[in-house]
Amino acid sequence: MCSKNLHFWDTYYLSIKNVKTLTEGNTDFFKFKVSQSFQKYYSRSKKNLRLMTLKKVLLTGGTGYIASNTAARMIENGAYEPILLDNLHNSYQSTLNQLENVTKNKISFYKGDVCEEKVYDTVFKEHDIHAVIHLAGLKSVDESLEDPLSYYQVNVGGTVALLKKMKENDIKNLVFSSSAAVYGQPKELPIKVTTPCDPVNPYGQSKLMAEKVIQDFSKSWPGFNYSILRYFNPYGCHNSGKLKSNPKSPVGNIYSELERVASGEKEHFTIYGNDYPTRDGTCVRDYIHISDLSQKHLDALEKMKKISGTREIRNIGTGKGVTVLEFVKMFEESEKVNIKQFIENRRRGDVVESYLESCNYV
Ligand SMILES: NC(=O)c1ccc[n+]([C@@H]2O[C@H](COP(=O)([O-])OP(=O)(O)OC[C@H]3O[C@@H](n4cnc5c(N)ncnc54)[C@H](O)[C@@H]3O)[C@@H](O)[C@H]2O)c1
Repeated sequence: MCSKNLHFWDTYYLSIKNVKTLTEGNTDFFKFKVSQSFQKYYSRSKKNLRLMTLKKVLLTGGTGYIASNTAARMIENGAYEPILLDNLHNSYQSTLNQLENVTKNKISFYKGDVCEEKVYDTVFKEHDIHAVIHLAGLKSVDESLEDPLSYYQVNVGGTVALLKKMKENDIKNLVFSSSAAVYGQPKELPIKVTTPCDPVNPYGQSKLMAEKVIQDFSKSWPGFNYSILRYFNPYGCHNSGKLKSNPKSPVGNIYSELERVASGEKEHFTIYGNDYPTRDGTCVRDYIHISDLSQKHLDALEKMKKISGTREIRNIGTGKGVTVLEFVKMFEESEKVNIKQFIENRRRGDVVESYLESCNYV
């Protein structure tokens, strides 16, 4: 792949050299021939120059909701080429087709499990990877209470396997998808990055453990850069209307659940608890649009390019607490639909209020 590009690049220079030499001869025939071939080589070279300067970024969990939107953002930004890895545990191969249609780009995809070291050997052999955005993971609070071991295996074990292979292949840049779940029932509101972490479910605990693994690992490798992004609650989709949250799991996030009800796939939207000590009795969250969240990954990569030794943890939200009922109302108004609601008992492991301090970077 690389040698092919170099070949085109050489040809480009050769053609420029030829243009100069031949036009000096002042022959119309040559001029015509040369300008045609120059244009051909020039446009081809421009494309190859772009390909050569694009930095390749591996997105684990690549066909998932956040990764597919981030991949689209990368292509639109033009500085990075996404390479996707996913075992399709909670997403569909059809997302790859959607992504290719939306971006009008062919995208490299590898089907594999992030816990298996050998999967990285293939990817890293075939691509010169500049950075990894590690989004693959299990993310249901409820499921993590039922099956904690899977959460530790995938979310912590997958991170260990990835870091080992990054070191072996000298890949020094990592962006990690963490979660506001690491704060548990927050010790202070609004949440700051210094707010003590105290997860209340295995999901949050596994994310915090993965963060610690990354931090300890970085101490053993001075050149390693990381950016841990603690996402609050993403919603929405790409501005094409595609790349929606479309999990295989029966219960998705608030937005995908509302979409399922709006489309008739589900009969009603379940609200877990309306007797919390909040302004309308439902839980409070900090909802961030997926486009803003996607951009944060690119910002993290840019920072690493500029500042070697980047090691940071950032909260990614809007700084605005919105109740579940308020969110449902906003959805109804923007989509012009009525959402049938059903009140259930409180859910185990749910945090009452979680929102970020006002920030100026979203
Ligand atoms: N969506 C949210 O509300 C939210 C909030 C905070 C943090 N996060 C984190 O962001 C990341 C992405 O979340 P998302 O909403 O896009 O979820 P998602 O389920 O849509 O994407 C995760 C992807 O990881 C893949 N995956 C799971 N286990 C894997 C394995 N062993 N090997 C390879 N691939 C595997 C799934 O198939 C899926 O495509 C997750 O790590 C999640 O914990 C999400």
